[in-house]
Amino acid sequence: MQSQTVYLNGAYTPIEEARIPVLDRGFIFGDGVYEVVPVYSGYPFRLQQHLARLQKSLDAIALANPMPLAQWSQLVRRMIKMHPWKDQAVYVQVTRGVAKRDHAFPKGAVPTVFVMTNPMSVPDRKLVANGVACITATDNRWLRCDIKSTSLLGNVLMRQRAAQAGSIETIMFRDGFLSEASSSNVFVVQGKAICAPPNNHLVLPGTTNDVVMELARKARMPLEVRELSEDAVRAADEIWLTSATKEVLPVSRLDGKPVGSGKPGPLFKRMYKLYQEYKRTVMRRG
Ligand code: PDD
Repeated sequence: MQSQTVYLNGAYTPIEEARIPVLDRGFIFGDGVYEVVPVYSGYPFRLQQHLARLQKSLDAIALANPMPLAQWSQLVRRMIKMHPWKDQAVYVQVTRGVAKRDHAFPKGAVPTVFVMTNPMSVPDRKLVANGVACITATDNRWLRCDIKSTSLLGNVLMRQRAAQAGSIETIMFRDGFLSEASSSNVFVVQGKAICAPPNNHLVLPGTTNDVVMELARKARMPLEVRELSEDAVRAADEIWLTSATKEVLPVSRLDGKPVGSGKPGPLFKRMYKLYQEYKRTVMRRG
């Protein structure tokens, strides 16, 4: 295993040696935000969009961005270059810093900035060809799921339920309507229409979700952004998961029952192709 270097508050350190104080508010309260940026052949995919969402998350928790955009961009690129893996997932985290334990914001604390990168493998062909299994649950997370917060206990518990059921994800419903999955967004195909729930406080505005919508619009595939009832999801012809590390993945079983034909559907196959083509195009452009 290649030795891993992480960035922590201005220093590049072997991962085993990186330390944060126990009073870091990320550790004590989960008072921080993060991003995961996929890297293909050394090229960070949709980096500007990830950094824009990081800014939004920081704004939402009233934490000043510790770095200008250009510096973030440089830092991420430097981290990628320091590691030999073609495909990587860069993880960026900012917390409110170290202070005596008190829920209210501390005065004068310096944000903790942490960046690491790990090798990433895109979903293997088998998963793409056969689809994955998901379970469902009532969404019991807080009402600011639009913030990419490190307070992920709700998501962790949902993902663990899926793991215990031998499934890849838990797809959640709030008040009878689709929100998202524990670490991905969800699309549903009804007939010829690709449908997705609106971006609001109940879901993370996914960067991959945006790519899929852009590609659908460009290809003039019918796209509908609207509330989707639990019944509609269960009766869907296709269900897709999207995330930076999963790309677009077809769901072939939901709560043990086949989704549509039980095989990845024709619209998924078309979108998967478009997605891979788009990746190649942006990588060529560098
Ligand atoms: N998760 N919704 C949730 C709750 C997520 O955690 C994620 C991503 C997404 C998809 O967002 P994007 O397409 O920008 O990755 C939606 C990341 C990958 C993670 O926590 O590891």
